Amino acid sequence: MSLSHIAKTISASPTLKLNEKAAILREKGDPVIHLGGGEPKSKVPMDAIIAIAAHLNTAEIRYAPADGIPALKKAIIRYTEEFYNRKVNVENVIASGGAKQAIMVALQAILNPQEEVLYPAPYWVSYPEMAKLCGAIGVPVYAEDGTFYPRIKDIEMKVGPYTRAVIINSPNNPSGAMYSEEFYSDIVDFCERRELWLIMDDIYHRLLFDGKKPINCYNYAKDLTENSKLIVINGVSKQYAMTGFRIGWAVGNKKVIEAMANIQGHQTSGPSVLLQKAAVGALNGIQSSVESLRMTLENNRNVMMDLLKSFDGVNVTKPDGTFYCFADFSNYEKKSNKLSEFLIDKVMVLTVPGGEFGLEGYLRLSYCGTIKEIQEGIERMKWALDPNSPNELYIGDRKLVRDWS
Ligand SMILES: Cc1ncc(COP(=O)(O)O)c(C=O)c1O
Repeated sequence: MSLSHIAKTISASPTLKLNEKAAILREKGDPVIHLGGGEPKSKVPMDAIIAIAAHLNTAEIRYAPADGIPALKKAIIRYTEEFYNRKVNVENVIASGGAKQAIMVALQAILNPQEEVLYPAPYWVSYPEMAKLCGAIGVPVYAEDGTFYPRIKDIEMKVGPYTRAVIINSPNNPSGAMYSEEFYSDIVDFCERRELWLIMDDIYHRLLFDGKKPINCYNYAKDLTENSKLIVINGVSKQYAMTGFRIGWAVGNKKVIEAMANIQGHQTSGPSVLLQKAAVGALNGIQSSVESLRMTLENNRNVMMDLLKSFDGVNVTKPDGTFYCFADFSNYEKKSNKLSEFLIDKVMVLTVPGGEFGLEGYLRLSYCGTIKEIQEGIERMKWALDPNSPNELYIGDRKLVRDWS
């Protein structure tokens, strides 16, 4: 079939595929444990529900401005002031269908075909595909010291004549690593000097552990004028557990935001007004759910770290934030795809292969579920991988027998 070049090169989102797989297995009655998920399980804030219900009750759900309704822009401006200590105008803000669309239209606004966008590895699965959708090239940057913490010289080495942009995601999906203040200072300064766009994907910035506080990239910027090439991305998906609402945003200079709005206007006419109302409710409402989610996730992280210690062959760096850890399972199997498949087939535990994030031998394990899921999931994995495990394992009344060594 004659599909476009882009269509042929884009792969399905591995994380969305896993969600489908989990749903199919559960429908069949299989006792699946999903450690591959990317969404908190807490309830959506009541203020969001009230706001969307109120608008729905008007029975007049219409088109809205493609770059976001004024009330949402106002809430984003207030958010930017509160968390970034920065005053911006309505022209500096766009609301999109999730942080995903905000990043996508930002890349479409700044990249030409064949140009390059850099991002540290491990990286979010969508960055390379988004670059391809622009006809551009995604370039992963690996830290020379083998850690999850890149240094500016690692980035510098990958910058060439076609580099136009850098994406930084901290705390990071999949590693949970939060980059240092020194790195923030270096990268902001570097991009300003080299006139590169810098996209800060801050979608997890309030989900930090061990007393860590979000780092504000604007603190390191010398240029805070309308020439600034800094674009800050955020959204309600993770911090308010509102993944299904699909509302995210970008803050940037007026010209780039206008270009993004033009692109988005033709793509989708902007996100649904109902969902924007819900986001306004969440942003302006009682904020206690964010802290309570953060505390739950920190506790879940501690539980998962303790459980992983019981494996002889797993190496893991303690995450600073998010709800993921990225553990090195290469002592068991070097091909992460193969290992992930094995764990689904043998013990019905879903994990995301590290190869999808640019690092083979690793698995991304999520701790956004319940403690019971985390405990049982890791115990099943241990049973499957440890050659000294007993021969049988019961899951409810289902008996699993080890027929592998
Ligand atoms: C690093 C990163 N950026 C952006 C997103 C997109 O979030 P949203 O649900 O707002 O589109 C995700 C979602 O998994 C993510 O992990």
